[in-house]
Amino acid sequence: MTTQTLGETGATSSEVSSREVRRVTTRLETRLDAATPHLRWLWVVGAGTIGGTVAALLMWQKPNLANYAASTVLLTLLGILAFTAAGQALILASRFRQSTIYIHEVEQSYESLWQVVFSALDLRDGITGGHSPRVADLAVQLGQRVGMAGEEIQLLRWAALLHDVGKLAVDDDILKKPGPLSVIEWEEMRCHPAYGQSIVGRDGFLSQVAEIVYCHHERYDGTGYPRGLAGEEIPLGARVFAVADAYDAMISDRPYRPALPHDEAIEEIERNAGAQFDPRVVAAMVDWGRKSSRSRRRHCPALPPPLPVTAKT
Ligand code: SIN
Ligand code: FE
Repeated sequence: MTTQTLGETGATSSEVSSREVRRVTTRLETRLDAATPHLRWLWVVGAGTIGGTVAALLMWQKPNLANYAASTVLLTLLGILAFTAAGQALILASRFRQSTIYIHEVEQSYESLWQVVFSALDLRDGITGGHSPRVADLAVQLGQRVGMAGEEIQLLRWAALLHDVGKLAVDDDILKKPGPLSVIEWEEMRCHPAYGQSIVGRDGFLSQVAEIVYCHHERYDGTGYPRGLAGEEIPLGARVFAVADAYDAMISDRPYRPALPHDEAIEEIERNAGAQFDPRVVAAMVDWGRKSSRSRRRHCPALPPPLPVTAKT
């Protein structure tokens, strides 16, 4: 304790500071009494620092035993409540983390399971090996360009990967026929969107995927199949898919024709805007095509150095 004498008064610094505290407390009490005549300042409940400033919670009441007991019970209950809430928050945080990990694992398993289906499809339908994943990638990029996002994009991706799953139910003689199909065979072939819908079409998320699968051969002008839907009657995902599917088919070799170059495939799609395809999706495709041919040019190997000029004799 400091015992230094302060000037003429002969008081120590500790006596001065306790006198000062008493003076401030008395002033505060007087003011509180004036403001709330039936209450009296009782104690400091809690103190802490907020951004370097000391903050204190004051409670004031009539200082009698009943109030003291009630406050003690109240504060104890508040303390218990705070501890319980903090404990619950920790448990919930850990459960949330666990469930996020779990959802991620379920999604991974789902993805792996469908990979088995895509691989089986690609193996059966040897002509279109790798077609579905390529179309899915392009459809996602086109979908984003026409404003699709989040779950819509996820639905589109699944549908693009699964679009021809119904071909599993089409006879091999028809699916792998080297020549043109007869009218009857076409009828069977044209059932594959409906087969696909019933294979994929469970409830919830998959039913929306199934709807795109069912509509993947519809055309914007209403001349497609199986229902002949037109324009906006066709789900946006199916309209986006149709463009991506046609582009990938055109730039791939087929037994009956060689692959078209990128620019010609884009021109062919442009020619079909408003007929087979949604013009908005075609615009997105043209934009994608322009950027992708630019990036293709960027990746071209550097030109060889010019040959040395030999003097003519
Ligand atoms: C396909 O599913 O791509 C073949 C059937 C058709 O062209 O309509
Ligand atoms: Fe198909």
